[in-house]
Amino acid sequence: MFELHGKNAIVTGGAKGIGRGIAHALVNQGARVLLADLDRRECAEDFGSVDILVNNAGIYPSRPFLQITQREWDRIVAVNLTGVFNFSQSAGARMVKRKKGGKIVNIASIAALVGFNGLTHYCATKGGITGFTRALALELAGQKINVNAIAPGAIETPGTAKMMSDAKVKAGFEQMVPWKRPGAPHDVAAAAAFLASHEADYVTGQTLVVDGGWTIQ
Ligand SMILES: NC(=O)c1ccc[n+]([C@@H]2O[C@H](COP(=O)([O-])OP(=O)(O)OC[C@H]3O[C@@H](n4cnc5c(N)ncnc54)[C@H](O)[C@@H]3O)[C@@H](O)[C@H]2O)c1
Repeated sequence: MFELHGKNAIVTGGAKGIGRGIAHALVNQGARVLLADLDRRECAEDFGSVDILVNNAGIYPSRPFLQITQREWDRIVAVNLTGVFNFSQSAGARMVKRKKGGKIVNIASIAALVGFNGLTHYCATKGGITGFTRALALELAGQKINVNAIAPGAIETPGTAKMMSDAKVKAGFEQMVPWKRPGAPHDVAAAAAFLASHEADYVTGQTLVVDGGWTIQ
């Protein structure tokens, strides 16, 4: 299952956290993985062809809405949304040209589905990703390119370490999440490996929620 031998994959923001977990999962399934930065030209030169793109890089700075500056808004849009556009267009063009199909997996968030205090800018970008995912899936279906998203709940990563180190916050998750624990990068990585695989050929335009049941209540 989820056989990825011979596949070239790019994972953005893959140096740590969820991206790192996804990179490990893809390598374990046989893929060659390039950990990418926002500079898409770098990737093209190093890799030539790409079968799988995982748009994972993202930031989530918390700020009350009335205090968000235009600069902060532009930065989060640039990293979380424009980065997804740039990488998808660059990799998508290569996939179309090669005529061998492909898989694009976008890491959204449950912040695309429910609101969170202090995260209006973040919620906007993640909601944007799910809309982008559906529209791009439609455009690229004829080329046998699947485009899906994953919406993780609270996942323990370097980015959330400070928040999770607060015993009260952690206890709060245990109460709110039916699975009684925060998620780990491998929880998200397993979903990404599926969506990157041949087994997901008939799944496109979807957002797979990986949140221990948090948002079903
Ligand atoms: N951790 C969670 O609870 C959670 C929940 C839902 C969604 N997500 C999403 O998952 C993704 C990864 O989150 P994480 O918690 O693993 O983050 P993290 O901060 O632990 O790691 C993020 C990685 O992305 C890289 N990165 C950040 N900005 C970048 C940029 N501009 N260009 C290239 N790389 C960049 C960082 O260097 C780092 O290696 C993000 O898109 C985030 O919004 C996380």
